[in-house]
Amino acid sequence: MSFKRFTITAALPYANGPVHIGHLAGVYVPADIYVRYMRLQEKDVLFICGSDELGVPITLRAKKEGISPQDVVDRYHAMIAKSFEEFGISFDHYSRTSSPVHWETSSEFFKKLYQDGVFTEESSKQYFDEESQQFLADRYIQGTCPNCGFAAAYGDQCEHCGSSLSPTDLKQPKSMLSGKPPVLKETKHWYLPMDQYENWLRKYILEDHREWKTNVYGQCKSWIDQGLKPRAMTRDLDWGVPVPLEEAKGKVLYVWFDAPIGYISATKEWAKANNRNWEPYWKDSDTRLIHFIGKDNIVFHCIIFPVILKAHGDYILPDNVPANEFLNLEGDKISTSRNWAVWLHEFLEELPGKQDVLRYVLCANAPETKDNDFTWKEFQARNNNELVAIFGNFINRAVVLTHKYFDGQVPPMGKTNDLDTEILDRLAEYPVQIGGSLENFKFREALNQMMDVARMGNKYLADTEPWKVIKQDKQRVGTILNLSLQIAANLSILADPFLPRTCEKLRAILGIDKLKWADSGKQNLLQTGNQLENAALLFEKIEDSVVEQQIEKLKASKLENNPDQQVQTRPQKPEITFDDFLKLDIRIGKVVSAEKVAKSKKLLKLVVDTGLEERVIVSGIAQNYTPEQAVGQTVTVLLNLMPRKIMGIESQGMILMAEDADGRFGFLQPDKEVKPGGEVS
Ligand code: MF3
Ligand code: ZN
Repeated sequence: MSFKRFTITAALPYANGPVHIGHLAGVYVPADIYVRYMRLQEKDVLFICGSDELGVPITLRAKKEGISPQDVVDRYHAMIAKSFEEFGISFDHYSRTSSPVHWETSSEFFKKLYQDGVFTEESSKQYFDEESQQFLADRYIQGTCPNCGFAAAYGDQCEHCGSSLSPTDLKQPKSMLSGKPPVLKETKHWYLPMDQYENWLRKYILEDHREWKTNVYGQCKSWIDQGLKPRAMTRDLDWGVPVPLEEAKGKVLYVWFDAPIGYISATKEWAKANNRNWEPYWKDSDTRLIHFIGKDNIVFHCIIFPVILKAHGDYILPDNVPANEFLNLEGDKISTSRNWAVWLHEFLEELPGKQDVLRYVLCANAPETKDNDFTWKEFQARNNNELVAIFGNFINRAVVLTHKYFDGQVPPMGKTNDLDTEILDRLAEYPVQIGGSLENFKFREALNQMMDVARMGNKYLADTEPWKVIKQDKQRVGTILNLSLQIAANLSILADPFLPRTCEKLRAILGIDKLKWADSGKQNLLQTGNQLENAALLFEKIEDSVVEQQIEKLKASKLENNPDQQVQTRPQKPEITFDDFLKLDIRIGKVVSAEKVAKSKKLLKLVVDTGLEERVIVSGIAQNYTPEQAVGQTVTVLLNLMPRKIMGIESQGMILMAEDADGRFGFLQPDKEVKPGGEVS
């Protein structure tokens, strides 16, 4: 089947917190790579997203922060949109489900299904808080888990044993609004009769979409095989799109009913702003609809939303849902409540300019078929050993040599030998390979193939050794460099979906405009005589201190947020000799001045009088001492520690600190006054 246009969506993130690397790796980086590739192919593609701003998750956050739901979504919508933009996630439109167009669209959608008699109506008893006069969402009820006895299980799930519950399963249920036991009260809701669509779903997914990723197909099969139950599409809540029925006063649409319709609303907004027609993107059978999501969203996008679309009747269905698994962080599940995450807005502040590096690492290690782990060490290694040593190095060598031997002008391609021909033949094959991987949602594979192009370029230079040949045969060197630069120009196309900022820089260096995917594989992308800019480094080496600081930051958050996991007493370290001890030059000093280190929450820059001189020491004590509190303190200093650069400041020595079990630090101070320079032994 050949499609004429593509509607690509990425899951609408809840506007109840900032976005982190797990979001990026699971959904937004792969979606963006795919879309950029499609655009390079000159396809008619529309990339849609927005913030998910309704429903219980938002009201819970508002309660926690003591602000209104509107304030919550305003704050996080802005933050999320900015992070996406900074990382080059190139949505055609980023909307939000609080927009009027969305309220109208989702309300109309519900009305149509209602009028067509799609819903079944059912009354049931639900927990009600008499004091606050409202029905309680599952998450607003806490009680004892019937399975494991955990006292703070939620109405929908026990976070201790992981079992999924319904509110009436809980023993001693309590309302989280008033703290009182809730009462059961009758309420009416409108249900999507999923059971009636079982056979249809079997055909739609299990027969007609066998090509879906195995993790997605498997989850769908297991849901369908377990038998589908009617699912309520309305809720008793005061934060959402009102149910458009007289008899449903005070009720709102279920967030998982309205949110996916948000893709449609966002398309309408985009169309209006751009003077286009939204309908073909959702209604023409020659449009291919693809949803990029994380695995916790599979049932909603593969089963519930398709049933909603099918019941409506006018819409196309998702043709693929390439869901990813989860990304863990340093061996632990990413968790907002435990602050175990790398937040994108913090990354942007602490590692400015490294957006493409993160895109690269998250794609190279994407949780495509199983959960994966992100570690800062791997981040550093992939940057230093791959982006710097392979990609950056190749481009740099080709450009620098052209400047050295040909004044930065692309030399003519002379006679080619067998090696050249082989390289050119391989070059012609890569676009097909990479494109094939991308079309099959194999982003890691595609990235690797793209890097093979740079590897090939590096090897070609190493094998041909233009820096030696130049002494005998300048013309031959011209051929070598022309060919190398053609590879570089190809990379500016082939790497563009993955590393958009870098490729922009690369094009500026090569002096070319953005090319199309169809141009790639060719050997004449750069004209002879074309003037190159000076080589600018595309990637920089990342030092140990940078990733160590990130690891420290995570450790600190673990101590703050998981008191039960604190190590109280660490076992003794391996023995050392007395001579080892004598190597340490430890002395008393006095803090002369102190200031915060820009962009760091933990570091203070101290000037310390050591008795020998005044020296700069960077110390991770900002969470325990303000600069004012630090000045004038007597401290103990390890003088002869090799100087280290921390956040760009050279630190000469280390302040010794005593650490309490709760992670608080204190200076080590003698109990009688000792002047700066006093030796510790
Ligand atoms: N907000 C949901 C989540 O973060 C995803 C919603 S995707 C939707 O899990 F578009 F269908 F809304
Ligand atoms: Zn339990």
